[in-house]
Amino acid sequence: MVDIHNESFIKNQIDNIGFYNIEIDPTLNLFEEISNLKKEKNAIILAHYYQDAEIQEIADYLGDSLGLSQKAANTNADIILFAGVHFMAETAKILNPTKKVLIPDLKAGCSLSDSTPTAEFKKFINNYPNHIVISYINCSAEIKALSDIICTSSNAIKIVESLPKTQPIIFAPDKNLGNYINKVTGRNMILWNGSCMVHEIFNLEKLIKLKIRHPKAQLISHPECEEEILAISDYIGSTTELLRYTQHNPSKEFIIATEAGILHQMQKLNPNKTFIPGPNNTICACNECPFMKLNTLEKIYITLKYELPEINLDNELINKAIIPIKRMLELS
Ligand code: 13P
Ligand code: SF4
Repeated sequence: MVDIHNESFIKNQIDNIGFYNIEIDPTLNLFEEISNLKKEKNAIILAHYYQDAEIQEIADYLGDSLGLSQKAANTNADIILFAGVHFMAETAKILNPTKKVLIPDLKAGCSLSDSTPTAEFKKFINNYPNHIVISYINCSAEIKALSDIICTSSNAIKIVESLPKTQPIIFAPDKNLGNYINKVTGRNMILWNGSCMVHEIFNLEKLIKLKIRHPKAQLISHPECEEEILAISDYIGSTTELLRYTQHNPSKEFIIATEAGILHQMQKLNPNKTFIPGPNNTICACNECPFMKLNTLEKIYITLKYELPEINLDNELINKAIIPIKRMLELS
């Protein structure tokens, strides 16, 4: 039997696989255990809409990237457990550095964030000396530190519009979101060539056929989707905006072109409406983010119990990265 209190065993597991691989007593009521640990440790669980339904149900706050960073900045909890991906937990640490920030699996990354290596990005922005750098929050702390303003999908247009029309801008890392903002605002921002593997997988032909089969359905899409998908969409918005749209739009049927985790809240808030996950290029009917889905109830329980893995960042990096994030929060 492995001694789970052995510190070197725990650290070794995190270093090697990014989380604890410890068997949990299957008779444990994880909802109850997690809720007790939260009270005992004055901890808060922040979860993104792309988490599994059971994680959404135990979260103290559920939201999109903007809402989650606002909540992380203002919480009085001693511990923030971030049920999301690494850049989100990092942002929470930057915004509230005296708090202990935990993430259930250190390998919960993001393809968009990974598409922006720091050294290459530095060279790229040096080629455009008079440009303001706006980075989507889906990037590492190092990229944030190299940026002038951060944005999320719910405030990106507002943030770009806050700058004079004549101001040259670099937008990174998502080329699809950047291209969409260029179209809406009439700007000509220079785009970094990054993308989200989940939102790029929607299949145009299958979506068109689905729309024909469901003529009354509204196709609603996240702006990380490719241009051709956005072009046939009835509404484009961040996860929170898509959720609100399903509540206010009188349609009874919606085709959803974003990560399938959001369907749980859509269905919960609209029990009499039908939600169809957008078809993709694979044989699977749904679109799930493999990074978001690394988090499980079991990992959340162990993470909260042992207060590891923890997000730790260098103070100098925090001091640089917080500037563009604060600018975003002031403009939001
Ligand atoms: P929002 O949370 O801003 O809708 O973005 C979705 C996303 O891709 C998070 O990783
Ligand atoms: Fe990153 Fe895409 Fe997953 Fe969001 S859905 S965390 S952008 S890979």
